[in-house]
Amino acid sequence: MSADFSQWRHVRQTEVETALNAWVSADAPAGLGQAMRYAVLDGGKRLRPLLALAAAEAVGGSAVLALRAGCAIELIHAYSLVHDDMPCMDNDVLRRGKPTVHVAFGEAQALLVGDALQALAFELLAPDTGEVPDALAAQWCRQLAQAAGAMGMAGGQAVDLASVGVALDQTALEAMHRLKTGALLRASVAMGAATAAAPTAALDALSRYGAHMGLAFQVIDDVLDVTADSATLGKTAGKDAAADKPTYVALMGLDAARAYAHRLLDAAHQALDNSGLSHTHRLRALCDWVGQRQH
Ligand code: IPE
Ligand code: IPE
Ligand code: MG
Ligand code: MG
Ligand code: MG
Repeated sequence: MSADFSQWRHVRQTEVETALNAWVSADAPAGLGQAMRYAVLDGGKRLRPLLALAAAEAVGGSAVLALRAGCAIELIHAYSLVHDDMPCMDNDVLRRGKPTVHVAFGEAQALLVGDALQALAFELLAPDTGEVPDALAAQWCRQLAQAAGAMGMAGGQAVDLASVGVALDQTALEAMHRLKTGALLRASVAMGAATAAAPTAALDALSRYGAHMGLAFQVIDDVLDVTADSATLGKTAGKDAAADKPTYVALMGLDAARAYAHRLLDAAHQALDNSGLSHTHRLRALCDWVGQRQH
């Protein structure tokens, strides 16, 4: 991993943190604002905003707009984690090295944190200040709604819960992972790229990049659940096997799952090779970062 990429990542992560800190206000009533900030701030790799920023860079788009889109996606992601951890879903007590939101604030507040973060994400995409052209705001809202909704993250989570104790074959497992995790990662790339008028062939290549890396990301999440410890992960290790979840490790074993993730990351690089874009080095470095991640 080059020093240049590490520096870029740290600068960008700080920008994301600053923007989220400003956008997620503590003012919401009855402690809701504090709980929202607890769910969003001080934690997380911020991969989705980084992807949006890197995609904007690849197409010569706007970093200011990509930061806004990336933060909106991060709010949806944070909401998905709050709900994913609730007793009715994965029943986890640790997230990003802290007690989960429902442990710290109660289940009803956790539910409302998710509701409010989802709404705030769409408000960010369509501000009344003229900062986002109307056509772009509409496109972003459509893209994020599709990625977060029934045929995206929420649908994938439904399949995940319906598949406990069920031995999914590779086709079904892949379909589930593409929805529950891949959709938001792919949208991060697409919404960053939407900040410029890129040729269709480049957008298609970025879409393939996002799909491959999005699937690889969840395969690696499955691997880390088995190989990493809770302190490193910041979330409880070993939960998938304990809960009898369908994962790539359960399907093909640890070594084959790792190898598969790396083949997918290679395919993501190949998509960029054929994109006709010349400024893809940040997207490539993010791909390598995902391949090497320890948490
Ligand atoms: C964890 O996502 C949940 C999945 C979708 C696999 P991340 O690993 O991106 O979580 P944070 O944001 O860094 O905590
Ligand atoms: C969650 O997948 C994907 C989401 C949509 C939140 P996991 O249940 O594997 O995520 P972790 O391992 O709890 O972060
Ligand atoms: Mg889950
Ligand atoms: Mg979980
Ligand atoms: Mg997991």
